[in-house]
Amino acid sequence: MTAIVNNKQMIKSPLNFTGGKYKLLDQIIPLFPKNISTMIDLFSGGSNVGVNIEADKIISIDNQKELIRLFNSFKEHSKDGVFQTIFDIIDKYSLSKSFEYGYEYYDCNSLKGLGKYNKEKFIKLRKDYNSLSQDSFYKDIMFYTIIIYSFNNQIRFNSKGECNIPVGKRDFNKNLQQNLSNFIDRIKSIDIEFYAMDFVELDINQYDKDNLFIYADPPYLITTATYNEQNGWNVHREKELLELLDLIDSKGIKFALSNVFENNGRRNKILEKWSKNYKIHYLKHSYKNSNYQKNKNKNSLFKTVEILVTNF
Ligand SMILES: C[S@@+](CC[C@H](N)C(=O)[O-])C[C@H]1O[C@@H](n2cnc3c(N)ncnc32)[C@H](O)[C@@H]1O
Repeated sequence: MTAIVNNKQMIKSPLNFTGGKYKLLDQIIPLFPKNISTMIDLFSGGSNVGVNIEADKIISIDNQKELIRLFNSFKEHSKDGVFQTIFDIIDKYSLSKSFEYGYEYYDCNSLKGLGKYNKEKFIKLRKDYNSLSQDSFYKDIMFYTIIIYSFNNQIRFNSKGECNIPVGKRDFNKNLQQNLSNFIDRIKSIDIEFYAMDFVELDINQYDKDNLFIYADPPYLITTATYNEQNGWNVHREKELLELLDLIDSKGIKFALSNVFENNGRRNKILEKWSKNYKIHYLKHSYKNSNYQKNKNKNSLFKTVEILVTNF
């Protein structure tokens, strides 16, 4: 597991995104430019990359507005206030506190988890959250509390904009508390700004080109993720992104793109063709038997070919 890269302690996001890059940081950060003035994290997700990069300024962009509101709330409010509000919500909805009472207290065990105990309470919290129309700090922290108790700490909204993620097995355990605490400390101590917008709205001309660096970690065309079920990442969006990266390149600005060429027997031929104009770095995927170089012909159905494409 990644801990220190380039002598810097890595922070793990307190949100869990499919395709989150925490475990790949030790492979991708050394491939980034050495001197970065502004880094634009175009699909910031849990911000595993943005908060760990060495740059004077970080611009984090994501089209998930609830996520960006949450990060801004973490930044603007005191850490104690955030934690206290989470504990208040946990108490209000009588959600489990295994970190205080253990699993047996809730008639649960660590294998099956706490879902059975928390299910109805979680659904009530989610229903109350969905019924709130006014944005507020409290609503943002309700959203984070839902994530804490949700399936794999993930996010999902339906087409009506209602959060519909199911209950998960875990609660606000010590690991997650530590990750949240570290994350809040980090975003308060660095120059990082969070913006809710679509990547096509990026106006690259508004930034000083000197040592500007763009990192793109979009949803993958050939995999599925809960945050991508509604607004569907599709061939059109993929091509829009690749065109934007070509434009960035034509302006002499450095970029890096995370993606997969191949996953479970599916290949992204559009990406493979486009990447030929740039530099392709094959990464070691965290699953066994998926190292592209070693297993070119073996396990082809189940392998994931994880890459970083750079223009420098
Ligand atoms: C693979 S995740 C990023 C994970 C992140 N790098 C990390 O390590 O935590 C992709 C993100 O892209 C966001 N996204 C999807 N479509 C987008 C769009 N059109 N514009 C901006 N962000 C988008 C999703 O909300 C999701 O957070």
